[in-house]
Amino acid sequence: MIVCVCNALSESRCREAACRPECKTVGCVYRLQGARVRCGRCLPHMQALLEEVRGVAGSAGPGEELPVRTGGPG
Ligand code: FES
Repeated sequence: MIVCVCNALSESRCREAACRPECKTVGCVYRLQGARVRCGRCLPHMQALLEEVRGVAGSAGPGEELPVRTGGPG
């Protein structure tokens, strides 16, 4: 299943990235796959995936800023 349409990131690849010890944020899930957040529609699912894989620790909680870079022009 594709989690991020903009980057064609599959759920299995995202889970692999999220399992890596250096992956502590949602942004890392993208970066470790050579991708970046673009439209952001996948962020809630990616956040849930990261929390499921790594537990609540290491991810932003409600109201906290997600440590991601969104794609802009250029
Ligand atoms: S669906 Fe992931 S950035 Fe657009």
